[in-house]
Amino acid sequence: MTDHILAIDQGTTSSRTIIFDADLRVKAVAQEEFRQIFPAPGWVEHDGKDLWSTTAGTARAAIERAGLRPASIAAIGITNQRETTLIWDRDTGVPIHNAIVWQDRRTADICEALRAAGHEPMITHRTGLLLDPYFSATKVKWILDHVEGAREKAQAGRLAFGTVDSYLIWQLTGGRAHVTDATNAARTMLYNIREGRWDDDICKLLEIPTALLPEVRDCAAEFGMTRADLFGREIPILGVAGDQQAATVGQACFQPGMVKSTYGTGCFALMNTGGELVESQSRLLGTIAYQLGGKPTYALEGSIFIAGAAVQWLRDGLKLIRASGETQQLAMNSDQQQNVVLVPAFTGLGAPYWKPDCRGAIFGLTRNTGPAEFARAALESVGYQTRDLLEAMQKDRTASEDAVLRVDGGMSSSDWTMQFLADIIGAPVDRPKVTETTALGAAWLAGMQAGIYPGPEEFARNWMLERRFEPAMPEEERTRRFAGWSRAVQATIMA
Ligand code: G3P
Repeated sequence: MTDHILAIDQGTTSSRTIIFDADLRVKAVAQEEFRQIFPAPGWVEHDGKDLWSTTAGTARAAIERAGLRPASIAAIGITNQRETTLIWDRDTGVPIHNAIVWQDRRTADICEALRAAGHEPMITHRTGLLLDPYFSATKVKWILDHVEGAREKAQAGRLAFGTVDSYLIWQLTGGRAHVTDATNAARTMLYNIREGRWDDDICKLLEIPTALLPEVRDCAAEFGMTRADLFGREIPILGVAGDQQAATVGQACFQPGMVKSTYGTGCFALMNTGGELVESQSRLLGTIAYQLGGKPTYALEGSIFIAGAAVQWLRDGLKLIRASGETQQLAMNSDQQQNVVLVPAFTGLGAPYWKPDCRGAIFGLTRNTGPAEFARAALESVGYQTRDLLEAMQKDRTASEDAVLRVDGGMSSSDWTMQFLADIIGAPVDRPKVTETTALGAAWLAGMQAGIYPGPEEFARNWMLERRFEPAMPEEERTRRFAGWSRAVQATIMA
């Protein structure tokens, strides 16, 4: 039977492929990490070849592990790290520069110059985004400015730009499709999310030839057929969404006011705002949650750059732990008398502060501070940052005040961290049975388009709670501790 969906989740540190069966159950998973390239402080790159080879490799491995023949795969769904920027040669498919990753800060000065020239209000109004190096636009400009002959080639239509989805589709289809979806386009800072088109004025401002840009489709649409030699037959690509948007879909946040928060490398909270694009007064982003039937559903997004990456830092940087899983146990055994606060601004601060040049800091160290207190501070920083985002969302939309937070991503498996999160936000935190929500969202989009999965209402009815974390911290403690965090952030920004 042709009733399985292959979901590709190309993330910041690894590529994954997950195969779902006709009942949306996970049948097989394959995952491969790849090299992170740090050419200078604040710069982060990926080799396009690695993104493609790990994607193709995990796709083949997952099919094999599931014991399926390619004929059983009805369609492919793709979800991906967003904003990360590639430009490749249309003749060879080879990138002309390493991918510049979303975390990369090298274009801070371009953003500053645009801000000084007064362009930010126009850009924010049209794209929903703030002028920050996080988004693709200034990364595209940087590549065109720094790779010899690139702008001329781009003008002549010989190069193609894409976020990772677009690049993978190009590779999967053997260069037959140069496309993206509305959610990924919405993260480029070149796409007018009110009018649903690339914005000529912003492209001109950044000297980006429009010949570079992919065609934008709905999240469930025909994106192209794979090369026959890859999987033994052509398979249609029918679903695409940026990873945070795919998680919003996978968490069935289809009603305005519903919020999800995903804990991966960073943490990204999205609140569905329906057909209305809310202009944030609290420095959150306006974005497209998903686009179906030509109709965008908008979201308010709070983006934090460091969540799981703080645990990685404990492991790889400080070498305090050997595996991420040890962090929770260490935190539980930490000295409750100490109040160590970590502000993990390793790559600047994202929402709602947006300070690209700020760097991390730690407060409250004593002679007794050890690995356990560092571990607790790292996990707590995730809770504090989430509260910052939720408070900003509540300022923008009072309706969400008593909302429940749906969580997913690697760190959501830590009971201790989720309990602290519920305690510090003072609201329930819901963890679903399926925490592979990002891949699930992409699979559902593709499977719905293929006609094998149900529509949104039934999909939402099938969302199942695994555990609810109720807030248990006394109000006085919650207020005191959050005030301590806020002071630490301000001190970090001033430093
Ligand atoms: O905006 C960046 C985000 O899409 C990256 O997500 O899960 O790869 O850290 P992740």
